[in-house]
Amino acid sequence: MAVIIDGKKLAKEIREKLKIRCEDLKKSGIQPKLAVILIGNDKPSQIYVKNKSKACEEIGILFKEYLLDEKIEQKELINLIDKLNKDTTVHGILLQSPIPNHLDINEAFRKISPEKDVDGFNPINVGKLVLNQDTFVSCTPFGIMKMFEAYNIDLTGKNVTIIGRSNIVGKPLIQCCLNKNATVTVCHSKTKDLKEHTKKADILIVAIGKSKFITEDMVKNGVVVIDVGINRDENGKLTGDVDFENIEKKASFITPVPGGVGPMTIAMLMNNVLKATENIRINAK
Ligand code: GUN
Repeated sequence: MAVIIDGKKLAKEIREKLKIRCEDLKKSGIQPKLAVILIGNDKPSQIYVKNKSKACEEIGILFKEYLLDEKIEQKELINLIDKLNKDTTVHGILLQSPIPNHLDINEAFRKISPEKDVDGFNPINVGKLVLNQDTFVSCTPFGIMKMFEAYNIDLTGKNVTIIGRSNIVGKPLIQCCLNKNATVTVCHSKTKDLKEHTKKADILIVAIGKSKFITEDMVKNGVVVIDVGINRDENGKLTGDVDFENIEKKASFITPVPGGVGPMTIAMLMNNVLKATENIRINAK
């Protein structure tokens, strides 16, 4: 039976430490603040933003939401980002994705000042991650790396197989794992023999959004499984991308859904907002 990686508990411990960092900033007269831009009526995005707002409140970070109509023009979005870039009371800016198709998300992420880019999506910050320089690491990959650290899972020389190549999770994860000396394989919808790659994984990270897609026959004994998926099965129950019940028997470590990667993502966002605030203070010295 696998050790269950308790993301909920670990995220709570991290948030407790972040509260102290936030208190310290406030004592020196700085109130950390996160600005979140939400466009349109995407239901999951509304829930994510609500959860981010709750976490900010718990830690003591000011949270300001900018709700934009789904028909907004690119120019107006960029104007808002410019305004927030210039606003010295705002330390972190987050544009919740997805955004409506007529808008250019790449330009929007590029316009967010790298110093306030707490999601780590600005190409400058992505580049720094590639070069293994200090930067904002996007929150889900960062949360996964913290889980490895907390459970003493060393990546050196390990075969890490990542399934999914999104800009938000899969791609930054490649870099994070490489920076920890893993041998990284990335699989995606065009991969020919997926099982061949999952079978050789010492560590398998799955981020594709398909309920119970990874089955027990696809993994080897002792595998470490990180499940990034959040899906609903036919009964409306939350499930990950892996068949937890059966894989748990074979794995050495596994993350549950819910209570695994999800809470860590939010904790890392909070960490990044405080880092952005602290950096401004350091740079002002
Ligand atoms: N949409 C899904 N995940 C994320 C995330 O981590 N950040 C943002 N901005 N949008 C998302």
